[in-house]
Amino acid sequence: ASNKKLLILPGDGIGPEVMREVRRVIDWMDRRRAVRFDIEEALVGGAAIDVHGVPISAETVAKAKAADAVLFGAVGGPKWDGLGFDRRPELAILTLRRELGLFANLRPATVLDPLVDASTLKPEVVRGLDIMIVRESTGGIYFGEPRGIESLPDGTKKGVNTEVYTTPEIERVARVAFELARRRQGRVCSVEKANVMESGLLWRQTVTALREREFPDVELTHMYADNCAMQLVRNPRQFDVIVTTNLFGDLLSDLASMLTGSLGMLPSATLGGLGPDGRRHALYEPIHGSAPDIAGKGVANPMAQILSFAMLLRFSFDMTEDAALIERACTNVLASGLRTADIMQPGMARVSTQVMGEAVTRELDKLAA
Ligand code: NAD
Ligand code: IPM
Ligand code: MN
Repeated sequence: ASNKKLLILPGDGIGPEVMREVRRVIDWMDRRRAVRFDIEEALVGGAAIDVHGVPISAETVAKAKAADAVLFGAVGGPKWDGLGFDRRPELAILTLRRELGLFANLRPATVLDPLVDASTLKPEVVRGLDIMIVRESTGGIYFGEPRGIESLPDGTKKGVNTEVYTTPEIERVARVAFELARRRQGRVCSVEKANVMESGLLWRQTVTALREREFPDVELTHMYADNCAMQLVRNPRQFDVIVTTNLFGDLLSDLASMLTGSLGMLPSATLGGLGPDGRRHALYEPIHGSAPDIAGKGVANPMAQILSFAMLLRFSFDMTEDAALIERACTNVLASGLRTADIMQPGMARVSTQVMGEAVTRELDKLAA
């Protein structure tokens, strides 16, 4: 038996479609590299609501805690959009982040050479781009109390969400960002709105103090989130590592995805702290959602999901070589001219999700030969 316990949660919409292509890569590794994973699969999101009545069962959460790594697809869809916040499909991913203590969501935006012209921005602006957005993922306005919709005496209503950050929450995610920067270009840009929010001001003060204490070798700058959105489009290569709050990180990473050509290209890793047993919980997922508008058509780009699996190999299993092999295979397939619809360019060959996935394993065969 293998010691690599993997929990796969395909979810809804294009989730299962792109996950199928990862299974192809996993089968390839089993066949050609004799790497065995001990794999379990479970329902999450709308798929779990339809069968179990909840977006994620306690049993699935327990399995996620027992696994060495979780590979997540995407959840949600119009069918379940009317449900309350205590029952929606999206609660599956929020519950996993919270229950497993996955506070640091790493979202790399890299422009692969073959896709330089696929971006909606000019090639000279995005060529060679390699930024890492570290998004806080268990706090902030996503989880702050009080929250809810209240009826007021005058018959109107009030919707409430609260941005809350404590110094330990800020420090642990900033530490991840500083450590990553040390292995990159040594620069961190911390992003909040310290000009209007107390939680943002505390964020800025805490990150500044942490740098002075523990990371004096890393360059730290600060930027307001609105300016950061603009700077990411104006001159994205000015950034190395960006560290930011849950909500701002959500927005800025979707924005950054378009620098790389498509939302369908961006993988992510969400890491927790070291547990008492020395293990680190970790979950890997594309940053895109279930894409109801293209679900069932077989046209989704599987790259973000496949690259999320490569991140899993690198971060959870220290399998740097295999991770690099998969990333190279993806780049080569794109260089050969194959394109799913979202990254289609003139003169290229438009292919389905499955043909793209098959091309990746064929390329893996070539690289490993
Ligand atoms: P989305 O990310 O699902 O889609 C946004 C746009 O990008 C759509 O036009 C879609 O077709 C396109 N797109 C996304 N992934 C693609 C891919 N791999 N290949 C090609 N095109 C791709 O965001 P949305 O439409 O705002 O949300 C749809 C549902 O997904 C909602 O229920 C939302 O809550 C959920 N969602 C889930 C996650 C997650 O599970 N982590 C993330 C984001 C959104
Ligand atoms: C993401 C998604 C989730 C988020 C939703 C589905 C809860 O948009 O992973 O980026 O907002 O964190
Ligand atoms: Mn998002």
